[in-house]
Amino acid sequence: MKVVRETKLFDLLILLSCFCLEFGTAIDTITTTKFINDPETLISNSGEFKLGFFSPTNSTYRYVGIWYAKASVCSVIWVANRNKPLKSLSGTLTISEDGNLVVLDEQKNIIWSSNITGSVFNSSAQLLDSGNLVLQENKTETIIWESFQHPTDTLVPKMKLSTNVRTGKKVQVTSWTNQSDPSIGTFSVGIDVFNLPELYIWNGSSRYWRSGPWNSRVFIGIPSMDSVFLDGFSLIDDQEGTFYFSFAFSNESILYNFVLNAQGNIVQKNSYKGGNWEVGWLVLQSECDVYGKCGPFGICNSKSLPICNCLVGFKPKNIEEWDRGDWSSGCVRSTPLQCERVTTNGEEGKKDGFLKLEMMKVPDLLNRSSAVEDECRDQCLENCSCIAYAYDAGIGCMSWTRDLIDSQKFSIGGVDLYLRLAGSELDRKGVDVKVVITITVTIGTLLVAICSFSLWRRIAKRKARKRNTKEALAFAKFPDESKPEQDSMTNQVKLLELPIFSFEELASATNNFHQSNKLGQGGFGPVYRGKLLHGQEIAVKRLSRASGQGLEEFMNEVVVISKLQHRNLVRLLGGCVEGEEKLLIYEYMPNKSLDVLLFDPSKQELLDWRQRFQIIEGIGRGLLYLHRDSRLRIIHRDLKASNILLDENLNPKISDFGMARIFGGNEDQANTNRIVGTYGYMSPEYAMEGRFSEKSDIFSFGVLLLEIVSGRRNTSFYHDEQAMSLLEFVWKMWNANKIANLVDPMISEPSFEMEILRCIHVGLLCVQDFAKDRPTVSVAISMLKSEIVDLPRPKQPAFTATQIATDTSSQCKQRAGGSINNVTVTVVQGR
Ligand SMILES: *[C@@H]1O[C@H](CO)[C@@H](O)[C@H](O)[C@H]1NC(C)=O
Ligand SMILES: *[C@@H]1O[C@H](CO)[C@@H](O)[C@H](O)[C@H]1NC(C)=O
Ligand SMILES: *[C@@H]1O[C@H](CO)[C@@H](O)[C@H](O)[C@H]1NC(C)=O
Repeated sequence: MKVVRETKLFDLLILLSCFCLEFGTAIDTITTTKFINDPETLISNSGEFKLGFFSPTNSTYRYVGIWYAKASVCSVIWVANRNKPLKSLSGTLTISEDGNLVVLDEQKNIIWSSNITGSVFNSSAQLLDSGNLVLQENKTETIIWESFQHPTDTLVPKMKLSTNVRTGKKVQVTSWTNQSDPSIGTFSVGIDVFNLPELYIWNGSSRYWRSGPWNSRVFIGIPSMDSVFLDGFSLIDDQEGTFYFSFAFSNESILYNFVLNAQGNIVQKNSYKGGNWEVGWLVLQSECDVYGKCGPFGICNSKSLPICNCLVGFKPKNIEEWDRGDWSSGCVRSTPLQCERVTTNGEEGKKDGFLKLEMMKVPDLLNRSSAVEDECRDQCLENCSCIAYAYDAGIGCMSWTRDLIDSQKFSIGGVDLYLRLAGSELDRKGVDVKVVITITVTIGTLLVAICSFSLWRRIAKRKARKRNTKEALAFAKFPDESKPEQDSMTNQVKLLELPIFSFEELASATNNFHQSNKLGQGGFGPVYRGKLLHGQEIAVKRLSRASGQGLEEFMNEVVVISKLQHRNLVRLLGGCVEGEEKLLIYEYMPNKSLDVLLFDPSKQELLDWRQRFQIIEGIGRGLLYLHRDSRLRIIHRDLKASNILLDENLNPKISDFGMARIFGGNEDQANTNRIVGTYGYMSPEYAMEGRFSEKSDIFSFGVLLLEIVSGRRNTSFYHDEQAMSLLEFVWKMWNANKIANLVDPMISEPSFEMEILRCIHVGLLCVQDFAKDRPTVSVAISMLKSEIVDLPRPKQPAFTATQIATDTSSQCKQRAGGSINNVTVTVVQGR
């Protein structure tokens, strides 16, 4: 080992020759004589992945890891010594004398090893273009160890999760402890097979999430899987006891991976052509996705309030606990099944039957039989221990004999679940209808209102119609996360004095919702231009049918906006609920939305600097009203250029409150599992962790400021051939003192220069990575108006906006000045 120390002397010389090496032979292999010292790196043959030393965010410890060479933000996919960091910058990755791949510390102690047993002479490790690090015996070329068999928290294409049901051997992914510490965290994800293979996330040893069974194309417990990824997943049974799960997508220019984060969620990230990372998908999207949330025989519906109910024919096991919102002990059957009763005194009871529950996530612990669809029901009915069945063409007949756990009602996808109930229970149709309705409170209450409406219509057509819309609007419950404030909000909506329009009236105003009247697409449906009989122009937003999420946003918008009035907020003129149709009517904005003018080269000139500054101020005032001045505090959550409407005088008006949240008096921050909004405008803490506050709106405001000044969209921003976000570009120009490069040529005029620069400065302050560093909206306005003269120096923004590789678990920091971009391999000669 002395040899190594001596080579340090030659490092300089070697470094020089290494610059050449980079172009000639990229080094992707480690042997006993070619090894790497911190901060040297290895690069795979065609330059996809790098292997080397790194420190996680906010950590000085050193780890050996593999990351994407081409992605602009570092994202580590594998860590070797995750539980045993190097405490200094003098680690070495090499092959030991017994043929193992090892990480050595300064004293040359082995702190990590590939741990293969039985010595192998003459082995070498190679970093492949798939990101796999393989150790092979040189003579036979047999692979004796590979990093893909020992994953960290990331699954990349071609990597396999596996479980052997005979030996119990598993390959699974485990989370980092937190974003600064890659040591093994509490969550893991892998395959478990109970009659059929499913993916599970475990928290320690308890189940935390499950995918539902695989139907040879998708997991049927993940409804979004159908729409998000049509192909590319596979789950293979090798018929020898091992099940493999992997994915591969055909588009080569997009990097994809799945990361199990420290909070136990699986985040799917994409990077297009090596640009920033975007979150494509989260596996857990609501509380209901948490395993067994509502206990045995409970059913979870994220759209109802409360989210847990007992299945029809069941009642809470412990009513007190249940009412307190502790659903863990679940529900018990209300009426015993006929087949369970000892039928000594003749055939008294009615026969059991099945109740159909639609769009369900099927419960855990299923049995499967080869019965065809028609037989499936009979098979279940014949055997008293069968309490439910379901049929899926890709799986066949599923049945349940144990407690039904982890059932969920979806608003898209899912399968029909048939629940066995006593005949008398099925007969109580009246009761049943009610129970079913409580399961879907949101939609249910609307339906009741609409049904009673159709009775009333015969009596007093028009009057009844108007009253009914009001009631439908008034009684709709708040479906999002249950917050006490929102319950009281629900009551307040009853006071709502919203003018009611009839559907006929709106249809004729918009020329029957003619395509040529369409203004655009709002949060939950298309928006049409219309003209009322007396000549007033209006904009009509029509809720798309079959949009569960849309209904939620529709009601949310009504609740929020009907309480607000400000010249910089769009005004709601009325509403209409008739049958399937739900519409909202707004004042018409002749100049459409800000993005239409700002990003269209032919229209940009309409917006000179004075005009743009006035728009910025207007947005600021609207936001200030939402955050501070209105009786309620409102976080908009989806502030972006297309949600800023412009009236005839180009006054800005904030619109689209479908995602807004109302905060109670002393609430400053909230969490959500359903992250909604627009990437590019979302603050990192919101996009990654679902935490939102005034400071997440401020982040979006900052992005807007920079877009207005530069005339460029934050997303789809390219410069120097290299994909870069607007924020990254601004930050780069700021540091290079070239901020003028950024200003839209349309507005650059020497007399405004100071004001424009100030605007960029404030914009940068608003997009800082940490929420606490960002100003409040009132401070930001004072800064813009120079009421506050000295501005603090901005810290680096979160480039994560579109992009998010800051994803908590995967940021890495190379040593400053380290030769990360050059392949520098220490070659020891004459050993
Ligand atoms: C290698 O084996 C040793 C001894 O059995 C064990 O302590 C160590 O954790 C193992 N290392 C890895 C990376 O598996
Ligand atoms: C994971 O399990 C631990 C220990 O049982 C518990 O304290 C923690 O709240 C669980 N985490 C989640 C996200 O459920
Ligand atoms: C009923 O189902 C249970 C569980 O699947 C099984 O053990 C039992 O043999 C079945 N009984 C009959 C009569 O088929």
